[in-house]
Amino acid sequence: MSTYADFHRRSIDDREGFWAEQAGLIHWETPFTQVLDYSKPPFVRWFVGGRTNLCYNAVDRHLATQADKAALIFVSTETNEEITYTFAQLDREVQRMAAIMVAQGVGRGDRVLLYLPMIPQAAFAMLACARIGAIHSVVFGGFASHSLASRIEDATPKLIVSADGGSRGGKVVPYKPLLDEGIRLSAHKPGKVLMIDRGLTKFDRVEGRDVDYAQLREKHLDAKVPVTWLESNEISYTLYTSGTTGKPKGVQRDVGGYAVALAASIKHIFCGNAGETYFSTSDIGWVVGHSYIIYGPLIAGMATIMYEGTPVRPDAGILWHLVEKYKVTVMFSAPTAIRVLKKQDPAFLTKYDTSSLRALFLAGEPLDEPTARWISEGLGRPIVDNYWQTETGWPILSVAHGVEKTPTRFGSPGMPMYGYDVRLLHEATGEEVGANEKGVVAIMPPLPPGCLQTVWGDDKRFVSTYFSSVPGKVAYSTFDWGIRDNDGYYFILGRTDDVINVAGHRLGTREIEESISSHNAVAEVAVIGVADQLKGQVAVAFAVLKDASRAADPADRMKLEGEMMATVDKQLGAVARPSRVHFVTLLPKTRSGKVLRRSLQAICEGRDPGDLTTIEDPSALDQVKTALAGK
Ligand code: PRX
Repeated sequence: MSTYADFHRRSIDDREGFWAEQAGLIHWETPFTQVLDYSKPPFVRWFVGGRTNLCYNAVDRHLATQADKAALIFVSTETNEEITYTFAQLDREVQRMAAIMVAQGVGRGDRVLLYLPMIPQAAFAMLACARIGAIHSVVFGGFASHSLASRIEDATPKLIVSADGGSRGGKVVPYKPLLDEGIRLSAHKPGKVLMIDRGLTKFDRVEGRDVDYAQLREKHLDAKVPVTWLESNEISYTLYTSGTTGKPKGVQRDVGGYAVALAASIKHIFCGNAGETYFSTSDIGWVVGHSYIIYGPLIAGMATIMYEGTPVRPDAGILWHLVEKYKVTVMFSAPTAIRVLKKQDPAFLTKYDTSSLRALFLAGEPLDEPTARWISEGLGRPIVDNYWQTETGWPILSVAHGVEKTPTRFGSPGMPMYGYDVRLLHEATGEEVGANEKGVVAIMPPLPPGCLQTVWGDDKRFVSTYFSSVPGKVAYSTFDWGIRDNDGYYFILGRTDDVINVAGHRLGTREIEESISSHNAVAEVAVIGVADQLKGQVAVAFAVLKDASRAADPADRMKLEGEMMATVDKQLGAVARPSRVHFVTLLPKTRSGKVLRRSLQAICEGRDPGDLTTIEDPSALDQVKTALAGK
C-alpha cells in the first residue's frame, strides 16, 4: 500500500475486501460467511456468521506467547497501590469474576451494570461479562443517583457490580449510598449487587441482595469458565451518552466488528505492538476507557495502565514518571489534562525520560493550538489530535501513521480515517460544502465496524436521531460543525446541538436543566455551555424563580444558587454542576417559545449575540447582561 489516500480510498470503494483483510487481526472461532450485510439501511451487520469473543481476543489468545508478560498495570496514587497482573494472572481473575457472575444467575444476553472506580476489578468485570456473553453497561463513577436510576431503568440489569467508594485528590468518594438511592429511584431492581469492599468507607449492606466479592472470589478461586462464542453481531455492551433530550441513549455495540475495528486502530492509528505498554488517562466510564484502556490495548497484546488519580498528585510529573517507569509507547489523554499541567512547573515535562513514547494522542474535546504547541515543545514527542464519539468507538479523524507518516497540523484532528466516508454537509440543503466552508460533519453509511449498531432498545430513536437530520440524504450526523482546508485537513468548530463538553466530559444541557428544575423555587431554567480557559466549556444556568422577590437580596441569591448546585451534585454528580446560576425574571426566547441559546452563549462569552429579530422580549437580554455584570 503506497499512500494513506490509497488506503482510505480502498476502504470506501472496496469495503468488503478491506475489512475482510483487517478481520485477520483477531481470532475467529468460526469464520464469517459475509463481510457486510447492508440490506436494512442504515443498520449494518459486520462479519455475519463469524463467531468470536472479546475476552478471548483480549486475554486467552495471548496466553500461548506472553502469559508472563504484563497485561494490566494498576496504579493508584490515591491509595498508593501499584499492582501488575500478567496475562496469566489476568486470566485467572477474569475467570473468577466470570464464575461469580454465573453463580448469580448471569448468562448470555443479560445486562450487568458496573458502577465502579478505576480499580482492577472493573477490568475483570468487563472482561468477565465479555467472556460469558453478558452485556456490560458501565456508568461513570462521577455520576450520581438520578443518572444511575435512568440507566438502571433502561438497561434493566440482573446484576450490578459496585464498590464502597473511590478517591479523588485524596478525598474518599462514597459510591454505595448513591447506588442505593439510584436503585431506590429506579422502577427496575437488580437481582443482586456485587460489592467490592476496598476498605475506604463503611457502607450498609442490603440483606439478600448485596453479596461480597472477596468472599465469593475465595469460593471460585480455581474456577474455569469457558468462553461463550458469540455471533459477531451479538451485543457486547451498551454505554450511555448524552444527547438533546433529558434521556441518555444506550449506545449499543457488537462483538466482532468492534474487535476488528480496535485491533486495526491500534495498528494503523496508534502504532502499538504486542509486548509494549499503552497508557490512557481516561476512565472506564467513558468510551475512551472501553476502547483504549481495556479492549484495544489488550486485544493487541499490549499491557495497559489503569490509573486512579489526578495528573498533579503527588506532583505534576506523575504521568511522565509512569511513562518512564513502564516504558509507555502509546499514550492517550484529554486536552483538559494538558491544560491542567500547563499551570504547573514546565520542568516536570523533562524531568523523566519519555523517549519511549511514540506519540501522545489527545481527544474528547477541541485541542487548542497553544496547548498543542506547549505540550509538543515541552515533551519533544509527537502529539496526535483525534476526533471521535461514543457512538463511533474509535477515531473518525486523525492521522494513520501506521500507514503513512502524513504531517499533523496544530488545531486540526487530521483527516478521515479509513472506513469513514466523511462529508461536510450544508445544514439547510444537505449539499456538500466546499473547502473552507462550514458544514455539519456527516458520515455516509454504512458506518464502519466498531460503530454503534443502534440505540439500546430503540431502533427508531437510532434512525431518527442520527440519520434524519440532513435534508434529502440518509447520512449519519455527528452533530459537530466542521471545516476542511485546501489540503484536506479538518477542523472541528463545536456542536450543532445542545450537548456541551466540560473537561472532555460530554453532558446534555437538558439533563442539567431537568435537575435544576426539580428545585421547588424554580419556574424555568436554561443551561448553556460557556467557553472556559481550563475546562474547554463550563455549564452556566439562567433560572427564573417562581417568586422573583426571592432573588432580590444578594445573600438569598447566593443561598439559592448553592442549593441548586447541590441539587445537581446530588442527582447527576459534580461533573454536571453549573459553574454559575444566574437569576432573571424571563429567558430570552423566540416568539414561538424557543430559548435563544446561541445568543445567550454569545453574551456570556462577550461576543455579538447575532440576529435578534425573532426575540419576543428584548429586555430579557438586558437582564442577562445585568445578571452577568453581577448587579
Ligand atoms: O464534539 C465532539 C467532541 O466530543 C464529542 C464526542 O464526545 P464523546 O461521545 O464523549 O466521545 C469522546 C471520544 C474521544 C464530539 O462530538 N470531540 C471529541 N474529540 C474531539 C472533539 N472535538 C474537537 N476535537 C476533538 N479531537
